[in-house]
Amino acid sequence: MADATDSKSVEGNLMRVQPSPPAENFPQDSSLSAKDRLIFALDYPTLQEAEKAVSMLGDHVGLFKVGLELFVAAGPSIFKAIARNSACGTFLDMKFHDIPETVRAAVKASAAYNIRFVTVHASEGKGLLKAVVDTVQKGTKVLAVTVLTSLRQLELRDIGIDKNLDLLDLVILRTRLAMDSGCAGVVCSGVEVRSIKERVGQGLIAVVPGIRPAWASVPNDDQKRITTPRQAIVDGADYIVVGRPIRSARDPVQAADRIVEEIKTALHDRSVHS
Ligand code: C5P
Repeated sequence: MADATDSKSVEGNLMRVQPSPPAENFPQDSSLSAKDRLIFALDYPTLQEAEKAVSMLGDHVGLFKVGLELFVAAGPSIFKAIARNSACGTFLDMKFHDIPETVRAAVKASAAYNIRFVTVHASEGKGLLKAVVDTVQKGTKVLAVTVLTSLRQLELRDIGIDKNLDLLDLVILRTRLAMDSGCAGVVCSGVEVRSIKERVGQGLIAVVPGIRPAWASVPNDDQKRITTPRQAIVDGADYIVVGRPIRSARDPVQAADRIVEEIKTALHDRSVHS
């Protein structure tokens, strides 16, 4: 099987990753419950709104994800608010993308917050990935963002990536790069998660956003590579990230519980078929 080194990691290459035979099963971290696997994206414009959501959903999700909008609006106070109002872990989703030294300093500054996961773009290569891996404190896992779920194959050409390079191959290439750099896992879409687990490794952590339950409707949706919670989990996702289908639901608690039930059934089916 090709690895990141023999593919030369050049996105413009007409590199084709040879598919390996399908794996029949996915090892499961049985210590994780269905609820532990649900990450809620705290995409709110103010600390007050985010804190209200943490209080409401703290017993119904596993982790709270703090992204750009909330961190820019609220700053580090949000981490204290999460710890004060829930027993959930914190996911710092800054999707770092800058020179290694700048990112290293930012990661160092986050050491005070007891972060479970931190994200960095894989597109910048090993130098940046390693800088983050070498800087995080013990207990924080680094996830590399492969290709955003808001991008489609057609759009890759617009950003200078060879039109003949399959989006899936690009995701696999970046996943290998991330694993070679010491990352714990990747953020990818549910469309690619099965291939990632089969072709790169069962041991990596796959975190899947772009989740759309069959019953949810998201107006003007920007997510392109989407899957249901069930599909993502059956195909090997370890965690799923859900924002709008919970945040915009009439009853967010009920929506979260419904997704946890779907994860539970999918985990059961995944283990039965392994
Ligand atoms: O479910 P919804 O689309 O609202 O979730 C949006 C969240 O997922 C945002 O916080 C966004 O940053 C995150 N996301 C991600 N990786 C992607 C796409 C979206 O973490 N590839």
